[in-house]
Amino acid sequence: MRTGVMAFLLILGSATVSSAARSQQTVPADSGVTVPDSVTPARVMAGSDLFNDGSCVACHAVGGRGTGRRAPNLSDEEWLHSPGDIQGIRHTIFWGVQKADFRAVTPRPFEMNPEGGMHLDREQLWAIASYVWTLSRPGTSDFVARQQRFLDLARLGFTKEAVALFERADSAAGRPATLPERGLNALGYELLRRGGNPEDPIAIFRLNTVLHPDSWNVWDSLGEALAAAGKTREAIESYEKSLRLNPKNDNARKALEALRQRG
Ligand code: HEC
Repeated sequence: MRTGVMAFLLILGSATVSSAARSQQTVPADSGVTVPDSVTPARVMAGSDLFNDGSCVACHAVGGRGTGRRAPNLSDEEWLHSPGDIQGIRHTIFWGVQKADFRAVTPRPFEMNPEGGMHLDREQLWAIASYVWTLSRPGTSDFVARQQRFLDLARLGFTKEAVALFERADSAAGRPATLPERGLNALGYELLRRGGNPEDPIAIFRLNTVLHPDSWNVWDSLGEALAAAGKTREAIESYEKSLRLNPKNDNARKALEALRQRG
């Protein structure tokens, strides 16, 4: 079932990664980028959640990669309001950007309020700034890089590779890592709407049922993708599973009626 606005933007959000990935500073030796002391893995993690579950994502989009009207891309090397160092980024986030200070050629419809309107405490401000700092420096944060790669592959239609990438990273970490349920769900719908290979959304929704087996919603979504692909029997199983987890899921009930008539 489709849920929420901008849910797919959360794909880079509240993902859980292994404690191994959290505790080591993950900068490749040859990247040539010096990570400031204030940018710690824990802060990047926390900042990702704040950014992607908070207000920032509404204007700057997934992983800060918005190229839309509302706000600049934060994952490229072009900085409009500071040199792009950690202090500068933190400064911009703290003060926001008022209309008079807009730098982009295309006028933005809204100002950026101080702290994106989020009322951050000091540590949270550092966390978001740290996360934003990593976005334009690929490889400085393993988990950000891995999730962006996942998203890139999936959006290009390489869902098998995307899923495999995650599974590999998974076993390398030696413990289950996960991707956020809402983000994966919305990604699946994005692929479904696009109408390419029907196996693509199915792969994404299926991964979601592996990572979040107790969610009635992910089984409902998988059912929808399977039904769209003409896989009636499997679709019925998936909807039944959803209904067992949530007997109030009327959407599944209706879908089941239709599918049983069809089958
Ligand atoms: C209402 C939309 C909106 C929201 C919400 C928002 N921003 Fe912005 N942001 C903007 C606009 C607009 C600009 C400046 C655009 C320009 O100068 O043309 C900007 C600029 C920035 C910049 C400076 C980029 C540069 O090139 O120097 C950073 C960093 C930034 N935002 C981070 C954040 C963070 C972090 C959050 C969440 C706490 C956030 N923004 C929330 C609209 C938004």
